[in-house]
Amino acid sequence: MTHTITDMSLAEQGKKQIEWAESQMSGLLKIRDRFKKEQPLKDIRIGMALHVTKETAVLVRTLIAGGAQVAITGCNPLSTQDDVAAALAQDGVEVHAKRGVSTEEYYQFIHKIIETKPQITIDDGCDLVSEIHLNFPDLIPSIIGGAEETTTGIIRLHAMVKDNALKYPMVAVNDSKTKHLMDNFIGTGQSSIDGILRASSILIAGKTFVVSGYGQCGKGAAARAEGLLANVIVTEVDAFRALQAHYDGFRVMPMEQAAKLGDVFLTVTGDKHIIRPEHMKAMKDGAILANAGHFNLEIDIKGLEKMSKKRNIRPNMDEYTLENGKKIFLLGEGRLVNLACAEGHPSEVMSMSFMNQSLACEYLVKNKDKLKAQVYKLPDDVDNTVAELQLSAMNVKKDTLTEEQTKYLSSWQEGT
Ligand code: ADE
Repeated sequence: MTHTITDMSLAEQGKKQIEWAESQMSGLLKIRDRFKKEQPLKDIRIGMALHVTKETAVLVRTLIAGGAQVAITGCNPLSTQDDVAAALAQDGVEVHAKRGVSTEEYYQFIHKIIETKPQITIDDGCDLVSEIHLNFPDLIPSIIGGAEETTTGIIRLHAMVKDNALKYPMVAVNDSKTKHLMDNFIGTGQSSIDGILRASSILIAGKTFVVSGYGQCGKGAAARAEGLLANVIVTEVDAFRALQAHYDGFRVMPMEQAAKLGDVFLTVTGDKHIIRPEHMKAMKDGAILANAGHFNLEIDIKGLEKMSKKRNIRPNMDEYTLENGKKIFLLGEGRLVNLACAEGHPSEVMSMSFMNQSLACEYLVKNKDKLKAQVYKLPDDVDNTVAELQLSAMNVKKDTLTEEQTKYLSSWQEGT
């Protein structure tokens, strides 16, 4: 068993962090208890490229409890929590993850995971799946399937299907309602603001806060910024989403206009170059830029670097002085701000996401003879099991239908 981590002496602290996460992830722990008894993943090799956080460690322990052998690397150069990586390594998990890796090391670590010959892959952003398909196709026949955590990864998977390139079944964990509606909306909403606050320590009230992209993540961030008394502007290319943002009470306009008005900018679109040099030149002196999308290309950082001088001001905050004398501040090197500058989504939210991941692995093993090289959603009953487990973890009781109500819902004769 090998590992590549930053510092093993951080392991004790990492274990305490994982313990704290576990105290808020009781839904996932219920699945762990069942997995311990039923061993649904017995002897299955799982290779993961996920953010190496205290919450992900709880998932790793759950999969191991279910009988799996797990090897893990990160899915973003700036999101690994080094103490957690050390704790996992000390427990004997094969882990290759360090905060602040270069692109070269990032791919070396992905290759280390591929060397373990995973039968199930778990990805956040699709780098592991794409690397296997591009450079290690010989491994594909022994792969049962994979699970993908995030919107960006799902978009890449659909592009693979369109190109006829996807060669093993994938579960779109992101598309479960208990993932998409909770993690993306509630999780990203809070954690991206958390990242902005930890990195900059600014007051949000009274600021003009521009959110680019009004998907579930953008909606969450806009709502939280509004709750902190910011003046929120939304930029969006999709007509329906722009309409939703308008009726949610936000000003909607193109970036060209928003650039002149914003104090804080948060991109969360999944596309590239949302904020470009022409926008940056038009910005107010002191504007703060952050990204909550999976990859660091939503803000054109190379464009920014070409026209400015850079200075680090404080952890996770760089100052760029433009040729016109104005200063722009970039948080977390334009990497996803919630994980680069804070700790990602709270454990309670990740409990739901990772219940979906655990059940996706079980689903892949149970259905391995039936599944084709397509992108699958988890069945509704699995999604509803996650909701039930989370409700029971929080001791929230939902109501139940009476017999008369159940009958009414399945009949068509009764009207006015
Ligand atoms: N994605 C967003 N927040 C996360 C977290 N806390 N752990 C793992 N993946 C995440």
